Amino acid sequence: MQIKVTKGAAESATLAVDLVAGALRAKPDLNFGLATGATMVGVYLELVHRHQIGELSFAKTKAYLLDDYVGLDADDPRAFASVVEEKFCDLVDIRSESVVAPNSQATDLEAEANKYETLVCEAQIDFQLLGIGRNGHIGFNEPGTAFDSKTRLACLSLQTRQDNAGFFSSVDKVPKRAITQGIGTILRAKKIVLIANGAHKATAIRDAVCGFPSEASPASALQNHSDVTVIADREAASMLNSC
Ligand code: GLP
Repeated sequence: MQIKVTKGAAESATLAVDLVAGALRAKPDLNFGLATGATMVGVYLELVHRHQIGELSFAKTKAYLLDDYVGLDADDPRAFASVVEEKFCDLVDIRSESVVAPNSQATDLEAEANKYETLVCEAQIDFQLLGIGRNGHIGFNEPGTAFDSKTRLACLSLQTRQDNAGFFSSVDKVPKRAITQGIGTILRAKKIVLIANGAHKATAIRDAVCGFPSEASPASALQNHSDVTVIADREAASMLNSC
């Protein structure tokens, strides 16, 4: 694992996008894994900026979403597919047919999850963006998830629902389920860049980076991967000194 400590969210986004830019230079037809959450908003802003100044093109890129809520209308602005569309895909030159997401409206959600697993594995993600939950979750893989888990229908913990309540009118309105790539699925990506900002992520980052890999910290599974960069601002990295 490579650890990069930044002064704050803006520098974290710049650094993450520098890595995306390098990957795109090497492989313009990048299979790009997209994540959501507040942390990613700055990353998408920077990606869009670099596109607008002519530095980055996604014309040959295919994008794959990490996860999405179950139970929201397809056009709900809080659905991750809508967020990624609004904040990134609609603002760059990626072709709309090149953006792939699990269909969280499917009548058979288990079958849809299996289908998405096959699709993501066949594609082989070159570069995966990742955030981290306060409890160490990646995607919607909550503590206790097996490291070899596949894409599936997962239940959100109360903490995760509370953390995401700001996007809804109350915690009761936060969906209880999601389709998420499994930890095993995420680990198949060739390169993974995890970004964390803020003191509320410090414990999760400490456990992910220097804790013994354990299902109690889903992100600690990343220690088993050969190409992971963790970009953490000073606050999120503040508990790494004691490692
Ligand atoms: C959600 C997403 C995760 C993301 C996490 C962190 O739970 N499923 O993929 O990492 O939020 O979000 P934030 O960046 O808002 O802290």
